[in-house]
Amino acid sequence: MQLYVVDDYGAMSRFAAHLTAERLRAQPEANVVVPTGNTPYGFFRELIALRQQGAFDASRLRVFQLDEYFGIPPDDPRSFSGWITRSFLDPLGITAAQVVRLRGDADDPLVACRDYDAAVRAAGGFDVVVLGLGRNGHLGFNEPPADPAAPTRLVRLSAETIASNEHYWSVGAQVPKHALTCGMNNILTARMKLLLVSGEQKRDILRRTITGPIIPEVPASYLQVSAQVTVVADSAAWPWPQSATVEYGHV
Ligand code: PGA
Repeated sequence: MQLYVVDDYGAMSRFAAHLTAERLRAQPEANVVVPTGNTPYGFFRELIALRQQGAFDASRLRVFQLDEYFGIPPDDPRSFSGWITRSFLDPLGITAAQVVRLRGDADDPLVACRDYDAAVRAAGGFDVVVLGLGRNGHLGFNEPPADPAAPTRLVRLSAETIASNEHYWSVGAQVPKHALTCGMNNILTARMKLLLVSGEQKRDILRRTITGPIIPEVPASYLQVSAQVTVVADSAAWPWPQSATVEYGHV
């Protein structure tokens, strides 16, 4: 695992976008996963700008959805599918045919998850997975405790996640209680993992993710024993001097 600590949110977004664009330039048919949440907005903006400057070609990428609320259609304002389409796919010109959705509107979540995992296997696994970090250490919606071998599945969201996601919409919008999440197994075996972390409110969970015990109660801690992990954090999220136990990258 490599940790890059940069000044602020803008620097985190720019640096992560450059790392991603470099990889996508080298691998224009990559299988890519991106997160929803507040953290990746700046990253999306920077990546879209790089694409407009011709830094990489998005026309042959395949994008897999990371997570989705269960029981709502894609045109529901809370749908992560709609969110990713508006903020990432459409601006990059990525079409629906290039996307593997997690079907939160499926009648049978088991079938939806099985189909998704079959599509991941058929595609040869993930090349690039960009992740945010939940305040409870979740990756996607792999809520604690999470088995590192967990497949794509239906999960019950924790009270903490529901409370934190309430801020995504106007007051009064109900956060669904269940969701589908891409499995830990797919995430941890991806060939490039990029974890974006910003802000003081993530400080404690980032420290536990990087230097704490590797335990199901902190799902992101499994990144410590996974290959090809790059963490890009701002100095609010990682205010500490370099420590002997962490490998540091330098921008
Ligand atoms: P955030 O969410 O980017 O809105 O902090 C991260 C997450 O819950 O994975």
